[in-house]
Amino acid sequence: MADHIFVGVAWPYANGPLHLGHAAGCYLPADQFARYHRMRGNKVLMVSGTDEHGTPITITANREGITPEEVSTRYHNIIVDTFKKLNIQWELFTGTHTKNHQEVVQNIFLDLYKKGYIYLQTQEQLYCPAEEVFLPDRYVEGKCPHCGAEKARGDQCDACGRTFDAKELIEPHCKLCGAKPIVKETDHFFFKWSAFNDQITNWLKEKKNFRPNVMNFTTNYLHEGLRDSAITRDMEWGIPVPIEGYEKKRIYVWWEAVIGYLSASMLWAKEQGQPDLWKEWWQNDKAKTYYFIGKDNIPFHSIRWPAVLMGLGGLNLPTDIPANEFLNLEGRKLSTSNNWAVWVNDYLDNYDPDPLRYALTVTAPENSDSDFSWADFLRRNNDELVGWWGNLVNRSISFIHKHFEGKVPHADKTEEDIELLNLAHQTFDKVAKCLENCQFKQGLAEAMELARAGNRYFDAQAPWKEIKVDRERTGTIMATMVQLIACLRVMLHPFLPTTSSKLHELLNLPGTPEEVKWILPVIEEGHQLSPASPLFKKLDPSIVETERAKLGK
Ligand code: MF3
Ligand code: ZN
Repeated sequence: MADHIFVGVAWPYANGPLHLGHAAGCYLPADQFARYHRMRGNKVLMVSGTDEHGTPITITANREGITPEEVSTRYHNIIVDTFKKLNIQWELFTGTHTKNHQEVVQNIFLDLYKKGYIYLQTQEQLYCPAEEVFLPDRYVEGKCPHCGAEKARGDQCDACGRTFDAKELIEPHCKLCGAKPIVKETDHFFFKWSAFNDQITNWLKEKKNFRPNVMNFTTNYLHEGLRDSAITRDMEWGIPVPIEGYEKKRIYVWWEAVIGYLSASMLWAKEQGQPDLWKEWWQNDKAKTYYFIGKDNIPFHSIRWPAVLMGLGGLNLPTDIPANEFLNLEGRKLSTSNNWAVWVNDYLDNYDPDPLRYALTVTAPENSDSDFSWADFLRRNNDELVGWWGNLVNRSISFIHKHFEGKVPHADKTEEDIELLNLAHQTFDKVAKCLENCQFKQGLAEAMELARAGNRYFDAQAPWKEIKVDRERTGTIMATMVQLIACLRVMLHPFLPTTSSKLHELLNLPGTPEEVKWILPVIEEGHQLSPASPLFKKLDPSIVETERAKLGK
């Protein structure tokens, strides 16, 4: 029986292009996971979309003198293009400014309001006396009430990751004009987080599979107890509150964005012509649901979204939330405002997708922060992808064309050949386990170790010498190589889909590359291979300096 696997991936703000931190943090791991499960024949529903509301976007729109919608459409299109070129495969990638999302959010809001989990209350809020507006969280800056860091935003501190109420900020000032805000009363809808304290705590006790970083962060956060908080804002951009008399208020962006996982699933089902299909992932208790996010998103996925789901009832809670730590760049913290970042689109204008997928996965920030450097990228590409894997494929296929007319020779396997293929089979299972457990870094390392073992075998067997003395033995060596390469192609497909698809053509396999199953392949004697052509390009060492010179400019 096929499993139903839901893969939710953090919704990127439609306020800028994607950088390497986004790719390493959640999009690559999610894509690897989803591809693996599709290969297993499981029913995968992988969704996300751009996070289009909220004040970062209105700030950009103000600055550029255009509408928030123009900002979000622009970046939505850029982001979709990036995913296409990076070869990230979605069931649906949508956005939060769609009619569908708005309707689903408003219905959920009403449902929870009727159930008493949302209630109206007068609230004190920061108000800018100079501009005469209530200040959304992001329009206020000050010192973090928890750790004292400067430049904390009104809702969250980037330094310690904690969330709080804007009124708690120390020495607050308005981001628009610098004035000191005053506290003023306004009505807002509150979510009764406090009602879910115990349920969330108990649920988390069963979550033994959570990564330690996710569990630690969540329990620390929960330790302080959940307090109710306002989930509406006084602003124009966003989803209107669906209650008479309050239509001018907007639903808080974080509260509505997470609902995107559900609304996107519903939209996908509609687009399949089976509007109820989403239920197989959300209401079927055998389905598994995974959320791929960066560590700054943890509490929204491990506490807030589960609380909303509990309030709605009858919907699956997260099976796992394999959040990644941060990716640094050349030894420094990524910073988009200082352009200490590599933009994925810029990268893809100059290089192929798989070397980046590779470099970011072998050093993935799974359990601690990791670093991307161009020197490391160059080495990974030239020594590992070209040297270990590309070379193995190239020299094998070329050799078979030169001496066996490109046809897989007959094999009379001896112990050493069988040993190598046994290693391939064991690695195949290990990589599967790694992918299932979201240990992508290790999974890829195991597969590459096998490629190295293949090179050692090739060197030890020395077919270029053997061909002069024993053609039959040489045939066995080459048939073994083809078998090994075919196994590696399957194992590497989730990680390196573009070059694995190319290899599908080099091996002249039936069907389309995207249909490849997670099954140990067998290539028959006599099978005709396509002409050899390199999988990877060697890069010139000068790229390191060229690329580094672009940083921080
Ligand atoms: N836009 C947020 C970020 O980039 C992530 C939102 S995830 C969602 O940090 F699920 F809430 F949409
Ligand atoms: Zn702080």
